[in-house]
Amino acid sequence: MMMRRSLILLFCLFCSFHIAISRSHFALKRGDSISVGKESEFITSPDNSFTCGFYSLGTNANWFGVWFTRTNPKTVVWTANRNRPVNVKGSKATLRRDGTMLLTDVDDSVVWQTNTISANVAAAELLDSGNLVLKNPRGEILWQSFDFPTDTLLPSQPLTKSTRLTSALSMDNYGSGYFNLYYGSDNVLRLISDSPDTSTIYWPNPDRDIYWNGRTNYNSSRIAVLDEMGRFVSSDLLQFNASDMGYGIKRRLTIDYDGNLRVYSLDNSTSLWAVTWQALTQPCNVKGVCGRNAICVYAPEPKCTCPPGFMVKDSSDWNSGCNATFDETLLNSEKVKFLEIPHTDFYGFDLNSTSPVTLETCRDLCLKDYRCQGFSYRLLGQGLCYVKSALLNGYASPDFPASIYIKIPDSLEPSKPNIFHPVISQVCGSIAAEITVGLPSMYSFNSKKVRWAYVYSFAAALGVIEATFVLIGWWFLFRKHGVPASVEAGYRMISSQFRQYSYSEIKKATGNFKEELGRGGSGVVYRGVLPDERVVAVKRLGDVYQAQEEYFAEISTLGKINHMNLVRIWGFCSDRRHRLLVYEYIDNLSLDKHIFSGGSHLGWKQRYSVAVGMAKGLAYLHHECLEWVIHCDVKPENILLDSDFQPKIADFGLAKLSQREGPGTEFTRVRGTKGYMAPEWASNHPITAKVDVYGYGVVILEMVRGLRLYDWVVEDDDGDEAALANFCRKTMEKMDFGGSAWIEGVVDPRLEGKFSRNQATALIRTGISCVEDDRNKRPTMASVVQTLLECEDEDEHEA
Ligand SMILES: *[C@@H]1O[C@H](CO)[C@@H](O)[C@H](O)[C@H]1NC(C)=O
Ligand SMILES: *[C@@H]1O[C@H](CO)[C@@H](O)[C@H](O)[C@H]1NC(C)=O
Ligand SMILES: *[C@@H]1O[C@H](CO)[C@@H](O)[C@H](O)[C@H]1NC(C)=O
Ligand SMILES: *[C@@H]1O[C@H](CO)[C@@H](O)[C@H](O)[C@H]1NC(C)=O
Ligand SMILES: *[C@@H]1O[C@H](CO)[C@@H](O)[C@H](O)[C@H]1NC(C)=O
Ligand SMILES: *[C@@H]1O[C@H](CO)[C@@H](O)[C@H](O)[C@H]1NC(C)=O
Repeated sequence: MMMRRSLILLFCLFCSFHIAISRSHFALKRGDSISVGKESEFITSPDNSFTCGFYSLGTNANWFGVWFTRTNPKTVVWTANRNRPVNVKGSKATLRRDGTMLLTDVDDSVVWQTNTISANVAAAELLDSGNLVLKNPRGEILWQSFDFPTDTLLPSQPLTKSTRLTSALSMDNYGSGYFNLYYGSDNVLRLISDSPDTSTIYWPNPDRDIYWNGRTNYNSSRIAVLDEMGRFVSSDLLQFNASDMGYGIKRRLTIDYDGNLRVYSLDNSTSLWAVTWQALTQPCNVKGVCGRNAICVYAPEPKCTCPPGFMVKDSSDWNSGCNATFDETLLNSEKVKFLEIPHTDFYGFDLNSTSPVTLETCRDLCLKDYRCQGFSYRLLGQGLCYVKSALLNGYASPDFPASIYIKIPDSLEPSKPNIFHPVISQVCGSIAAEITVGLPSMYSFNSKKVRWAYVYSFAAALGVIEATFVLIGWWFLFRKHGVPASVEAGYRMISSQFRQYSYSEIKKATGNFKEELGRGGSGVVYRGVLPDERVVAVKRLGDVYQAQEEYFAEISTLGKINHMNLVRIWGFCSDRRHRLLVYEYIDNLSLDKHIFSGGSHLGWKQRYSVAVGMAKGLAYLHHECLEWVIHCDVKPENILLDSDFQPKIADFGLAKLSQREGPGTEFTRVRGTKGYMAPEWASNHPITAKVDVYGYGVVILEMVRGLRLYDWVVEDDDGDEAALANFCRKTMEKMDFGGSAWIEGVVDPRLEGKFSRNQATALIRTGISCVEDDRNKRPTMASVVQTLLECEDEDEHEA
């Protein structure tokens, strides 16, 4: 017996020895890990073209990712969590026995992990395509890095509805930058610049319509792929070929930090990359490339330059733009004048565009408006005047037929600008600087210049949020309950309704996360029971690091909100890597289960009361809340019903606090769900509460019809947006025609005619007006509530 046991022990020792040896080869088995700083610990693809492991950008900054084995310096194609480097000592990537692959820092904090917990993962392998995959024992792929691209797409890796490429921040900072490639809700693949200042589509050419750009918007499959030959094909009919088309060449499609999208091919003999296709031939056409107040100019190589009176903010980051050298508040208090820069324009951000007007009228328009920072005037024809609220996307070209006039204080005496011969002038003691825009040849890796400031400032920002939270907690406590019993209590009890829970409390309440209620974009929801017997829904946020921002936004918003048509939040947990939210539990599932499912469905009265309740909840969010809140993801899945079938709006994970009016009302990131997203997500317009009105319109129309938008039949299959437009147009025609026979054909046939004609008409009219393309034509939620309440008491449906 003893003998046998020691034999087994010996055998196991041998096993683990064997695993240790095989580490630097093809696969990582359950329980294995790769440590940072050990040169030998890598996963390689069978043909050795790709390597996965830790790479370094500086003395103590390491990332876990995949790169081309043969190129030097490393060409990284994927990174686990690009915004969070780990330390050189003690960090490791582990394939845990529970099936997750995770990356931990020296203090064991989880920097990144896969969503494969309790999946039957057998091994992590790197395929010849550069795809890092987790497989089950049968060899099926459970997770793949191809689904989570960073800035690069490899041949055969599809770009889909749910993926995007995001540029690096700069040449030596691999963190997420400003430029993105993804499919818009109009099904068109595009490049968008998404800086803190602006959100501008710059490819395909924004001055042309979809068809002129050679694209279409009818194919909603939204998929693109670069094949092994170097051909790129997208569902919006975009097609291009690498100039060296053919097999046997390593390629990649990368969105570079200068905002251009390029195909690179690897030269076998030199191991250097050559550009074999690029989206924009003119680097200055990348909107936002030079940042605020800066002008992109070819001199003759592309450069960013600051107008006189402005100086470069950060000469190592050419997206950061130029700062005024004068006190900008002087513009409101003092006399001002305008500095003319010929052949130059700043794209977008027009407060008013008027024609025909004289130069003097145009100037007066800008003078009268305190928001105006300058204006563009072109004499072309009769005189076109654009008054600008911000000077962004600056661009100069000798044949550009307009001048820009920048508002400056009268006391400033800048020299006359000559932008095409940038003899840089001395202005008020400062030097108007210039920076060269990135060229492909510059994309080498410089391992010495990691900008730690970025990493640290991010961490510091989170620290500040946390500290603010503590302070708010204290403030509440002192105000409401006098001096706290202990410091601990002060932090934990923010108000009697809203508190912080420890992870063990939540674990106990949910019976170790036993009962899953659902999964959303931001995490999994479990059922739980608190010690005081309240039933709760606990939402565990998925990606720990990324979710921080969302998490704090969500709690600080929700903690303050109390309305019968909005889901209450009772608390939260922030315990090391665990981020959880504790909500009130709503009995009766979400609205989609009650209107689209085959079996039971809501009766008319309930449907109408859901429409009214939703409108009240949204109106409260938009108009009466402490802070003005936009939900951004109104859809049936986010409307929960209680035991009386009263609607409660859930999931404010996507909501973002916003000031009323003012320049802060612009969203920089597209959020929401296809079908329920207003057209302004796809365009350059600011996102306002009207996006929720749009989502609401779609939901109530779906509720009246008892059909998902994508099941609405239209003759010419034109995608969801077209089905909706079609429906609205035809219904309006029938309404105008008079009579009420049309209504039977619209309302859910399962109601068997048992509904109020007046209420149905009110809902359909409201729904149609809510989904107007022009957001100014959509009603506000407050007026929707008003309209619907007027019909609420009718009860003719038994007739
Ligand atoms: C949509 O695009 C996909 C991928 O390019 C293609 O396979 C499919 O046939 C297209 N559908 C239509 C209706 O054109
Ligand atoms: C790409 O090459 C294919 C031939 O393989 C050709 O049919 C197609 O027209 C080319 N596309 C472009 C945009 O040149
Ligand atoms: C480049 O090298 C790879 C592997 O070394 C080889 O398979 C391929 O044929 C080469 N391509 C060319 C164009 O020489
Ligand atoms: C740019 O201007 C802002 C506000 O006027 C100021 O806080 C900042 O320090 C300036 N940056 C530089 C580099 O001068
Ligand atoms: C733009 O300016 C013109 C001329 O003053 C004015 O009539 C018009 O109402 C303005 N438009 C907007 C949208 O402010
Ligand atoms: C809704 O809730 C009531 C009361 O809790 C329950 O009787 C009913 O079965 C629920 N309906 C559905 C569809 O869950």
